[in-house]
Amino acid sequence: MDQVPFWVAGRAASADDVVTIRNPYDGRVVGRTTNAGPEQVEQAVAAAVAVTDEAAALPAHVRAAALDHVSRRLAERAEEIARLITAENGKPIKWARVEVTRAVSTFRWAAEEARRFSGELQRLDTDPAGAGRLALVRRVPRGPVLGIAPFNFPLNLVAHKVAPALAVGAPIVVKPAPATPLTALLLGEILAETDLPPGMFSVLPLSNERTAELVPDPRLPVVSFTGSGPVGAAIRRSVPDKHVTLELGGNAAVLICEDWAADADLTWAAQRIATFANYQAGQSCIAVQRVFVHEWLYDGFLPRLVAAVEALPVGDPSDDATEVGPLISEDAARRVEEWVDEAATAGAHILVGGRRDGASYPPTVLTDVPPDARVASDEVFGPVLVVEQVTDDAAGLAAINDSAYGLQAGVFTHSVQTAFTAHRVLQVGGVIVGDVPSFRAEQMPYGGVKGSGVGREGLRSAMDDYTEPRVMVLTNIEL
Ligand code: SIN
Repeated sequence: MDQVPFWVAGRAASADDVVTIRNPYDGRVVGRTTNAGPEQVEQAVAAAVAVTDEAAALPAHVRAAALDHVSRRLAERAEEIARLITAENGKPIKWARVEVTRAVSTFRWAAEEARRFSGELQRLDTDPAGAGRLALVRRVPRGPVLGIAPFNFPLNLVAHKVAPALAVGAPIVVKPAPATPLTALLLGEILAETDLPPGMFSVLPLSNERTAELVPDPRLPVVSFTGSGPVGAAIRRSVPDKHVTLELGGNAAVLICEDWAADADLTWAAQRIATFANYQAGQSCIAVQRVFVHEWLYDGFLPRLVAAVEALPVGDPSDDATEVGPLISEDAARRVEEWVDEAATAGAHILVGGRRDGASYPPTVLTDVPPDARVASDEVFGPVLVVEQVTDDAAGLAAINDSAYGLQAGVFTHSVQTAFTAHRVLQVGGVIVGDVPSFRAEQMPYGGVKGSGVGREGLRSAMDDYTEPRVMVLTNIEL
């Protein structure tokens, strides 16, 4: 099996530190690559610095053409890439295909935004002191970006760092997750087909320890990290002077409001919640974890939910019919098992699931979970649902807010007023009305409050984040 090269300043490279990537489902070797060595990291960073001015000055049509090229090539190679995601991540092929489709859209949106990204005019003659003056506010790149990506979307969460950087003309050094570098390296191969100047991108597999050493490098003034809360907090503490975006975890909640009472309503909510609690074995920051149900609806809803969870096809992620595959590793599944067992010992009832098999953990539904059990209060990042009744909608919204996290929430209601109340009251980055919190479109601002992070991804938001405004004031202008 050939070693997959990594990408240093747009060129293929390799080193001595071989990394073997295995399929989490069956342990099969998927591929090999190498971790970049210190000289290659230095080359990548130095090249990013060297190309900074040229990159910022690239015409929009050049940036957009490169981004369109990547979007098109991802679409052309979609099935191959989806199969690679499934092999290295264990994500069911059905969901891997969705991820590739989303990444096609991420790059397409970046191309469109690159064409639109023009700045704004501000009239200044609103006071006598500004008579005859006009401001042009343009955004300029803050400098080279260090992107650190997680394993759970090996393509699209890398895309959400690379595409906006290239769209604004900022060089990027991206570090894929140690468990899933191969998809990012394939993206590197496609990026290398573009006419972007060398140095604008590097894709470097690195150990987490080596990455921690790279974070403080002053030549990379922007750090965009997606991953766990403790690592994100450590990054923020270690580089207080840098511009840091953190997309961290969540324990996403839904509320089934009093008016969501028809049989069809409850059936739809149960199916959506069952699917999106388990869709990547729960390994999404916006997978449903906590479910709050109005007490009048609880007895009608719970059996529907259990039936929908029991009906999910579990097994080989390469099978088209599979909905739920393994977690990323046996260690990850063991942690989920430990948290569920701990809740059960403290009095929780396991209605379905609860028995680990290697790296696989079955879709699991719990009730009567003590609030301080980790499956309720922390981010489980596994296929586990915690269901609780609430006395009214206001209590449900308060229960959603009773969390250290605040990424997205889902509110099942038909009432426009309840939707607006939820939007006003909930301490989250996004509220999805009439559906689960797991919905995300690539152009949406995406990110959280509290322990869920700082800053927003989503193309335009990330482009704003990677740039800062620079004002030019024109004088003696007759408007
Ligand atoms: C995440 O896990 O935060 C990403 C979710 C998504 O892009 O759907």
